[in-house]
Amino acid sequence: FLFDYQVESTSTNETVKTLFKTTLHRPILATTEKQTQGRGRRGRVWHSPYAQNCYLSLGYRFNAALSELSGLSLVVGLAFAEALSELNFPVELKWPNDLYLNGKKLGGILVELEGTFDAPCDVIIGVGLNVNMPLNDDGTEQIDQAWTSLSQYKGEVVDRTHLLLIIIPKLESFLAIFEQQGFTKFAQLWPQYDRYIDQAVNIISAEKVITGIAQGINEQGELLLQTEQGLLNISGGEISLRP
Ligand code: BTN
Repeated sequence: FLFDYQVESTSTNETVKTLFKTTLHRPILATTEKQTQGRGRRGRVWHSPYAQNCYLSLGYRFNAALSELSGLSLVVGLAFAEALSELNFPVELKWPNDLYLNGKKLGGILVELEGTFDAPCDVIIGVGLNVNMPLNDDGTEQIDQAWTSLSQYKGEVVDRTHLLLIIIPKLESFLAIFEQQGFTKFAQLWPQYDRYIDQAVNIISAEKVITGIAQGINEQGELLLQTEQGLLNISGGEISLRP
């Protein structure tokens, strides 16, 4: 890894984008204590106060075309879920890429692409994880959903360095397996962490809302949704799942 640590940055995804242009080194791991322009999915802000949480981005080159990388954000979520479960945090995943603890949002993943859709493909995998953020932190009232942090769950401060020492090797090995063997293994692992399996959900995209019962995922990482029209396969992108 080329490791980049900053006390403050706009967004670690931006740090990786800049490093992609200035170095040939891959993979890159960028972390920071605070983001001034932390981004969530669908144009939202990611609240990123100083020295409390983990904000990290991994710059990774896949020897594959983008079309072969469906399921990537699920693989990243699963690496976090496995690592955090080993540390006794019973994390659940919301398809395609949110981490939940105690039914509240713990973290999120923002995957971005730099360059072309053809192989090799440089991707930026950004993850924000609420670690020690207290409920009354300034600015948290703007978070638009119920959220939690590892320290709220555990009732004590959690060591972020220790966390990353468990999470990063897990992430590295999951990405290597994904690159070499594809998504199959992860499709088998997913049900253990699936927060909405067998539940009624709404899939919301720019054009429409589809209602159905979530049935887990298929071998490509697409969501299986039982609707009145039959079983639909829903692929990721700019959509969201709501109970
Ligand atoms: C979401 O749930 O909407 C995704 C949140 C992703 C946040 C992380 S924090 C590190 C990286 N830098 C960003 O600006 N966003 C991601």
